Order: sequence, then C-alpha cells, then structure tokens
Amino acid sequence: MKKKLFSLLICSSFIIFFVACKKDTVNPETDLSVSQTVNSDAPTVGSNVTFTVSILNNGPSAATGVSVNYSLPAGYTLVSATPSVGTWGSSTWSVGNLANGSGATLTVISKVNSAGPYSNTATIMGSETDPTAGNNTAIKATVPVAPPSTDISVAQTVSNSAPVVGTEVTISVTVLNNGAIEATGVSVSDVLPAGYSLVSAAPSIGTWASPNWSVGKLASGSSAKLSIVAKVLETGPYENTATATVTETDVNAANNTATSSIVPVPLVAVKTTYNNDVKPLLVVSCAPCHVSGGSYGKWDVYANAKSKITAIIDRVNRAQGSAGFMPSGGTKLSADKIAILNKWVTDGLLEK
Ligand code: HEC
Repeated sequence: MKKKLFSLLICSSFIIFFVACKKDTVNPETDLSVSQTVNSDAPTVGSNVTFTVSILNNGPSAATGVSVNYSLPAGYTLVSATPSVGTWGSSTWSVGNLANGSGATLTVISKVNSAGPYSNTATIMGSETDPTAGNNTAIKATVPVAPPSTDISVAQTVSNSAPVVGTEVTISVTVLNNGAIEATGVSVSDVLPAGYSLVSAAPSIGTWASPNWSVGKLASGSSAKLSIVAKVLETGPYENTATATVTETDVNAANNTATSSIVPVPLVAVKTTYNNDVKPLLVVSCAPCHVSGGSYGKWDVYANAKSKITAIIDRVNRAQGSAGFMPSGGTKLSADKIAILNKWVTDGLLEK
C-alpha cells in the first residue's frame, strides 16, 4: 500500500512536470524591459550627450529576435551608437538572443542641436509573448541650455586724421568685453593697408605677431589696447580694419569690426624765396662790397638782386680767381649755395 502510494506520487509528479514543460515549449513567455539614462539632464547646445539604453530579459524564457527601436528626435544629431551585443543600424538595435536574466546596453552619443524636440524613446520587442508591456518603452528627455555668450566690440582711432605724407601716426585699437562672462581666446586681426608702413605695434596685454593680436582672456567689462605706429606713405589705400574674434558665442557680431581712415596731406614743395634763402646768402657772401653802404650793386635789396640775377649766377660760376669771378678776392660759393640761386630762378624769383 505504501509502495503504491509512492509510485503514484512519482507518476503524478512526472505528469505535472511534463505538462509544465510542454506548456513552456509551446508558449514561451519573456518579460523584456528597457530603461534609459543620460549623462547630463541640462546639456549645453552644441555639446555631446551620452544616452545609455539598458535592456533586460526578466524571463522566464530565453528571448529571441530581440530588437530595440531608437530613433533620435530633431533635437539631436547622432555621433555614434555602440551596442554591447548585436548590431546598430538606422534607428534599430538588433540584439538577437537574450538569455533569461541577462541584459545588454546601447551607448548613444549625440550632439545637442539648438532646437528640439529633445525626448528620446527606446522601445524593445522580441519574438516571444511579453505579458508585461508596461516596461517595454523608456522615454528620456533633456532640457538643453544655451552656450555661454559674450559680446566683444572693437573701436579704433588715429592720432592724426590729416597727417603729412612721410610722418608717423598712432592707430589705437581697443577691444572691449561687453558680455557678462569672461571672454577667452580673444584675437584681433589688423592688416595694415598699403598706405602705411608698420613701425611698431604694442599691445597692453597679449602678444602681437603681425597682423594678429592675441589678446587671450578678457574679463567682463574690461578692455585692452593695441597701439600701432605707422608711417604714412605717399599713396593709399589708408582704410585700416581691425576685426575681433572670441571662443564663446558672440551675440553681437556687428561691433566686432572697426575701421579708421586718414586723408594725408601731400608733401608741399617748399619754394626758394629772396627773404628766406637768397638774401641771407648774398649778404654773408658778398659783403661788404654789395650791401648798403658798400660801393657796388646792392644785393641786400630785393629789386636789385632780382634784376641782376643772371649776372650774379654768371659771376659765381666763374673759375675762382679768373676775371670777373665773384666774390671778388674770396672763395668760390659751394655747389649748394649756387643751387639755391638757380632754384630761386626756377621758382619764380619770389621775394617771400
Ligand atoms: C671785395 C668786394 C667784392 C665782393 C666781396 C663781391 N664783389 Fe661783386 N663786384 C665787386 C667789384 C669791385 C665789382 C665791379 C667790377 C666788376 O664788374 O667786376 C663787382 C661787380 C659785380 C657784379 C657785376 C655788377 C653788374 O652790375 O653787372 C656782380 C654781378 C657781382 N659783383 C656779384 C657779386 C656777388 C654775387 C658777390 C658775392 C657772392 C660779390 N659780387 C662779391 C666787388 C666785390
């Protein structure tokens, strides 16, 4: 009796086991789940964020034909998608088989665009029946922030807007940080136009390597100056442009360029006049004979010197000591002095 009962127990156990196994084989069930995390909930626009999509087979059966649909919304641009198992291609992570209790991850790096939407949806599916549908979808969103912005402005002045050709001017280029944050990587480019020749350039901060002024960092509200000394050449152009750039986003690009210009005054040819040049020469060289009080032509009187200039030039050009040579008994005038007399004629025998 005891033996019979035991074999019945064994037998019924087998039946239960068989039924259970049979049921499992005919209709396997899996509970697939998906979740998502992101490395930053408030990423900066333009930076990369990393989403990690984690999947798990909660069983009880082994899962086959597992895939995850993961399409990025307009707020992101895909950089890379790396699955721990399976393959990635066009919005689909093909996982394949996933044993009971095992999981896998997909690492998605994407660039944050300036406009959304920013909500990512991951949806898992498999070949087996999944009675728990609630955990088959995971949504993760970020709230991106604008990158820090600044406003760099440039101004410039010239020490003299009407310099004489050949003289030097100082061009002062000033760069100012109007932004609320420190500006970094500030740089000013200033290519001198052909009307100038660079003499020197001295920055208040940073370094100058023509044509670039590397300012570097500029605190909010602070400014820096570059003093360019340049020689004004005879022909232009003279319009000088300075342009600033900065690492941060510049909210106002319109004030990043400044120009200056000059209207140079041509070198005036100075004319030789009697009062300035000729009279002093004749008075010194021809005294005492030819000045008032002397016995000969009075070269200290404009009208006399003017009317006798041909004879004067003739006499001073004669060989020293020869007949009629002037200054009589003296030393021949230097070539420079004779040139002054000739130029006085060329310039029109002006009195003053
Ligand atoms: C030491 C005195 C003396 C000095 C200095 C002298 N002369 Fe005379 N100059 C004379 C005498 C004397 C004559 C008249 C004789 C003659 O014509 O050679 C004369 C005549 C002239 C004449 C001709 C006058 C005319 O009406 O045609 C000219 C021109 C002249 N001198 C120019 C000069 C000049 C220019 C200098 C200075 C660079 C000069 N002389 C210095 C003594 C001098």
